[in-house]
Amino acid sequence: MKKITIAIDGFSSTGKSTVAKQLAKALGYVYVDSGAMYRAITLYAMQNDIISKDHFDIEKLINDLDSLKISFKYNDVLGFAEMYLNGVNVEHDIRTLEVSQWVSQVAEISEVRRMLVLQQQIMGKEKGVVMDGRDIGTVVFPDAELKFFMTASADTRAKRRYKELLERNESVSYVDVLKNVESRDLIDSTREDSPLMKAEDAIEIDNSNLSLEAQFEQLYALAREAI
Ligand code: C5P
Repeated sequence: MKKITIAIDGFSSTGKSTVAKQLAKALGYVYVDSGAMYRAITLYAMQNDIISKDHFDIEKLINDLDSLKISFKYNDVLGFAEMYLNGVNVEHDIRTLEVSQWVSQVAEISEVRRMLVLQQQIMGKEKGVVMDGRDIGTVVFPDAELKFFMTASADTRAKRRYKELLERNESVSYVDVLKNVESRDLIDSTREDSPLMKAEDAIEIDNSNLSLEAQFEQLYALAREAI
């Protein structure tokens, strides 16, 4: 069976990573969560006084980029790869609302994007990969054989993210989560470098009213056809 590249882009909290993981598992492909990489750099900036409430030292972040080690390590028990920052497992720490509140500003920086896009292209060079993000079908793998663009209403997405954060015992309000989802979408889709947009050849899927199973079945059937 030939191996292909599957790109899944879309707005925040559209359930991209859930379906991407399922799809990779069913096809025996590697799953790469590109958002985790932007989140890890954001966490680094927060931990190193580059970002705080009232300042963002972009110059320092750019200077530090070369010394940062962003890597994935497969966890056999969980069945997916976890994010490591300079050798430390940060899978849990990168998913807080605080990181979400800064990550889109970090992802606007061209130097950050250049470094991560290159790493993503290396990870996917053998094909047999499902990668989710915002610019996978447009910039990282414009030649991907199969591209999806996921959408859902802002309210549906905020409810999903809110539930996820509560399950992690984070004390957040629904209004703050909704505001974050909306502001990330705005920054992500209006930034100059690699804005979030649907690739011309991407298949758009609005999953506001789709169950996880129905969504997976739809993507899996299309993947089997393409392989
Ligand atoms: O996918 P996730 O919501 O974890 O991504 C976090 C943020 O990282 C996005 O809101 C976006 O700003 C940035 N991102 C990006 N390009 C990608 C993946 C994520 O700019 N390919």
